[in-house]
Amino acid sequence: MAEDKLFSSFQLKNKEIKNRIGVAPMTRVSSPGDSIPREDVLEFLVRRAQKEVALVYTEAIVTDYESAQGYPKQSRLLTQRQIDAWRPVVKAIQDAGSVAVMQMFHCGRMAWPEINPAGRVIAPSPVTTKQDNALTGKPYTVPDEMSRFDIDHVVNGFAETAKGAVEAGFDGIEIHGAHGYLINQFLSGYSNRRTDEYGGSAENRFRFAREVIRAVKPVVPDDRLLLFRISNWGVADASVSLFESEEEWQQMIQLLDAEPLDAISVSTMNYADRVFGTDKNMAQLTRAVTDKPIILCGGIYDRKTADDALQDADLVLSGKSLLLNPDWVADIRDNKPLKPRTGAEADAAYTDEPLL
Ligand SMILES: Cc1cc2nc3c(=O)[nH]c(=O)nc-3n(C[C@H](O)[C@H](O)[C@H](O)COP(=O)(O)O)c2cc1C
Repeated sequence: MAEDKLFSSFQLKNKEIKNRIGVAPMTRVSSPGDSIPREDVLEFLVRRAQKEVALVYTEAIVTDYESAQGYPKQSRLLTQRQIDAWRPVVKAIQDAGSVAVMQMFHCGRMAWPEINPAGRVIAPSPVTTKQDNALTGKPYTVPDEMSRFDIDHVVNGFAETAKGAVEAGFDGIEIHGAHGYLINQFLSGYSNRRTDEYGGSAENRFRFAREVIRAVKPVVPDDRLLLFRISNWGVADASVSLFESEEEWQQMIQLLDAEPLDAISVSTMNYADRVFGTDKNMAQLTRAVTDKPIILCGGIYDRKTADDALQDADLVLSGKSLLLNPDWVADIRDNKPLKPRTGAEADAAYTDEPLL
């Protein structure tokens, strides 16, 4: 019988991932006041591990108190109280035999002043998205173009948050460079109009990401993972291709390939979509230029899509399906007929109702 790749283990650096399935990072906006998620939101992550999800991601954790936050009630990992709150959660995930990854981000121009304690909105360039902020119903604030001071401060926020994650015991740290948030804003000419060394060529647009990676790497011990998530789409102006061509995407992947990363996480709207006018999907274009492990997400909802996505990747993530169905891994193993879940259904993530 052919090997069942989906349920085979994968060696990611020194971590054995017991199957190829992970729960994608999902923001839950449940952390008022002290930036610590609600108890049931933390339990949700532990339950996913207990239900056979091999790789468990936190929601995206914001990296500072000044300008990073893009949604109300987001979490942080900077204070001792925050670190202490996550430690037992990480341990419970590990006790279930799974690997725990902390994802961190800065929202850049997707931030809004009202929810950031210092009230600032900063980005590579003073350009907003075309789309209004869905939460406020108003246009996004025109950001300040980031100064050298801002860049250093933000890079430091990533390093400090990574330190918090290391202290909390996380197996891995993911730098969120996807979905139209700050790092992605630097990478894409759609939002980066700078004429200094951070703008223009792909190498220049990559410079900020590299500074973040290089600042985070030294605080991550050798026995932990360092991952990077990238996408060609952003949550606002979602139909815009953030990179212009296959060549540009592959150039960014090659720049990532040269960095001390243990895997590249490719986020898509749908993993199977053929992109940039080619007959290849995003993972195939990525695989062509890197030997690093690839983690793939987007539109994986049943056994067939999971197996199919895994042909071009080493690990697959599910967002909405695992959000709404604690038994998803067992259902996949049983090859149950399953439907793709909608964004409207996933809004359950943002209510006070605990999710199973
Ligand atoms: C409620 C919700 C919150 C999300 N929050 C994050 C996040 O914090 N970080 C991130 O990288 N992606 C986030 N995403 C995107 C998912 O990680 C994933 O890429 C997306 O849902 C597509 O996968 P799916 O088709 O399996 O749902 C979120 C998605 C949902 C539905």
